Formats: sequence, C-alpha cells, structure tokens
Amino acid sequence: MSFDTIIVNGRVVTATDTYASDIAINDGKVSAVGKSLPRENAGKIIDAGGKYVFPGGIDVHTHLDMPFGGTTSADDFETGTRAALLGGTTTVVDFALHTRGDSLHNALKTWHGKADGKACGDYAFHLTIADGRDETMNEIPKIINEQGVNSFKVFMAYKHVLYVDDETIFKTLQACRDAGGLVQVHAENGDVIEVITKEALAAGNTAPVWHARTRPVECEGEATHRAIRLAEIAGAPLYVVHVSSAMAADMISDGRKRGLPIYGETCPQYLVCDTEDYLRPDFEGAKYVLSPPIRDKWNQSVLLRKLKNMELHAFGSDHCSFNLCGQKELGRHDFSKIPNGAPTIEDRLAILYHVGVNGGVISPNQFVALGATNPARLFGLFPRKGTIAVGSDADIVVWDPNQTRTISAKTHHMNVDNSVFEGMTVKGRPRYVFSRGLKVADGDTFTGRKGYGKFVPSDKFYPVLV
Ligand code: URP
Ligand code: ZN
Ligand code: ZN
Repeated sequence: MSFDTIIVNGRVVTATDTYASDIAINDGKVSAVGKSLPRENAGKIIDAGGKYVFPGGIDVHTHLDMPFGGTTSADDFETGTRAALLGGTTTVVDFALHTRGDSLHNALKTWHGKADGKACGDYAFHLTIADGRDETMNEIPKIINEQGVNSFKVFMAYKHVLYVDDETIFKTLQACRDAGGLVQVHAENGDVIEVITKEALAAGNTAPVWHARTRPVECEGEATHRAIRLAEIAGAPLYVVHVSSAMAADMISDGRKRGLPIYGETCPQYLVCDTEDYLRPDFEGAKYVLSPPIRDKWNQSVLLRKLKNMELHAFGSDHCSFNLCGQKELGRHDFSKIPNGAPTIEDRLAILYHVGVNGGVISPNQFVALGATNPARLFGLFPRKGTIAVGSDADIVVWDPNQTRTISAKTHHMNVDNSVFEGMTVKGRPRYVFSRGLKVADGDTFTGRKGYGKFVPSDKFYPVLV
C-alpha cells in the first residue's frame, strides 16, 4: 500500500464519532481510515499527535466581490478563499446576485467569472432572486438540474435594492418545492425599516447606532414568522439565514415543533458582539453595521443554546467585508449609507470553537456538524464534502485545541482594514489545512495557490435530518 500523504496520531472527529485513527490520502481523496496504517510508502507523513482531525469547514454564507451599498465587498475570490483556508474553511458557498429583468443563468455566469482561476479554495453557489417573473421561476428547475445550484435566497429587507415582495417569495417557494431547491430568506421587514429609517434621518439621527435602532428585533421576528408561514402554505422547506436574535430563533423552533422542514443559521458576530459596540467612538461603530443588526448581549447565550440543541443547524459567516477607510466612510454622515457587512470568513470556526467548545456548551462533534457537515448536507455537497470518510475529498483540518491567537486586522489575512473581533483572544486554531489532499495552510502560512479552487456542483435538496 502506498499513500500520497498520511496523517497520523490524531483524534478524528466527525459529526457523529470521535476516535483515534490515521487518515490516508491518495489523488485528493481520503483513501483509508484506520489505526496504524503502513507508513513506509507514504509520500508525506503529518503528525497530528495531541490534535483533532476535523473535516474542512464549509461556509455556506459568503459575499465575495459583491457590489453592494454603492461599493464592492473588499475580499474577492482570491483573498476571501485564502483567508477562509487559513481559518480552516475549505469550501465556501457564495451568493451570485440576480439582477431584476435579467436571467439567473447570466448571474451565475458572472459569478463563475469572478471565481474561476482566482479562488484558492473550493466553492459552490447560491442564487439570489430579484423578481418573480415567469421567466425567472421557469429557470429554477434548469439551474438545479443543469448548473449544480440548489438554493435561492430572497430578501425581505433592503427596500429598492434586493427586496422582493411576498408574491415573489411565495412563487420562489413553490418553484423550489417542485424542483428540489431550498429557499433561503433574509428575514427583516424592509417596509417598516424604510419608514423608521426615514424618520430617524429626518430627526437628525445619523450615527452608526441608528442602524440598530431602526432595525428593531420585532422586524426580524415578524419577517421570520411570515416567511415560515409562507413556506408552510407552499409546503416548501426553508432556510433562515443569519438569525441574530432569540425572537427569530424561537420562530424557527416553533415551526419545527409543528413538524415543518425549517432550518436556521447563525453567525459568529451574533455570538460575541452586542449593541454596545455601535457606540464605539470615532465612527468605529460602523464596523458593526450589518443586517440584521447585532442585538443586546443576552441574545448570545440563547443563540448558543439553540445551536447546542440543534434548533439552529448551521454556522455561516455572512462574510461581507468593507474597509472603514473609503467604504464604511460612505455613511459617515448618514448611517443608512454605510455598506452593510463585516469580515468574518477567517475567524468563523475559531469563534465557534472558542465560545462553543471551550465554553463547554457544544461538543467537538457538534462543532463539526454546525461548521461543516450540516451545511454540506443542506446544500448538496455531502458526502463529497463535510465529513471524513473513504472516498470523500481530502479536505482536512488538523486542529490544535491548545494554541491561542489574538484576532486583529493587523494580522488577519482578509483584505480589509478592520475586524469586529479585534482584540479577542481565542483558543484553538488550525495547525495544517488540506484541500483535496494539498496542504494549503501550515500554521499562519498559506501554502496553496491562486486558482486551485474548483467549482463544486450541489446536488438537489432533499429534506435532511440535521
Ligand atoms: O449586512 C449584511 N449581512 N451584509 C450582507 C448581505 C446580507 O444581507 O446577507
Ligand atoms: Zn442577508
Ligand atoms: Zn449575507
């Protein structure tokens, strides 16, 4: 027996099991899992003694090279996927933006053009839906069957930009139900937010904190409830992205108690940032201008408990980076003009591990389930991605649970001048990262290459137990 690479002495952790084992890699796939695999003919031997061996993370919520808020997100497919790999995320699923009146096919073509030849790590796509025209709805089955995209996001917020009405949402739910797609929803009441925002600005309230004050939690709760009811009427599954509050998470729990196939995602910023951050001086509060906004601190422990109890099922980053200098600054005198989003792709897993596992709330298996396996299952990438098994892609993270790191924009690898986690010390970080058998990260050093990342087609959605 000969192996390209063999990872020895580690403790393998999947969503369901933890065991001591070696892992062998051939031609970019896991070729053997077992104790004391023969080492004589191994090309490379990686010692994972004292470390965990996790499947590579899957981040199903990224916005790379995305035009938004009058500018374009600061990380493109090269810098974004490189930072992702260094943080232990080997596959990202990015949102290709559909434009009203145009075809979904064109949106996808544009996004392939952004990623192809640039991405350092593997990627898949979701599509957003900008209109409910028959042409758009009729394209959904073709996109699912021929283009390897199984999920479609509708926005209930961002009036006049990405916002769509209930009719469009309902039609998208019906089309996805029939074709094997999963609808994702950004659940905030965009109409109400529009009114309150105008009132705040008219009263001279322009500072970043008004972003949160004009997007009250009830806007998220109401929209989440409405989206779930629309899915219930349509008989369709639904995935609620970036759940920020206990109120919205409770709506998902209620839906699931009624037996509905509703899935929820939360993100690292909602576990460690809170409303006080908007009050930071010198416009630093603008870093936290993202939607739904950061909530009062008490929500953090509720979200974490929901992750533990699998009432929320996936942990995405919602990475959408903008520089303070030159980008967030667009809204220095008007909070509604601050581009929405934060850089989180690199630190997603470290935050979940630190707060969740070190905090004694979730197990290492749940960490894997939330950060890799459930996302892979929901978005049609499993078992090629999201687990360690013979035949799966050798996307593997050797994780050192004892290494600490202080997060800072000065040292992170994202192409952006700020971090919403600035100064936070986290314990646990990747020691080595492999993408399809290639060592792409060695500690803090990127050892992969631009253009190595490949498009990974998603299978059709089927209701999964996560
Ligand atoms: O503020 C955010 N979340 N920006 C990215 C777009 C979105 O709504 O996901
Ligand atoms: Zn959103
Ligand atoms: Zn997003």
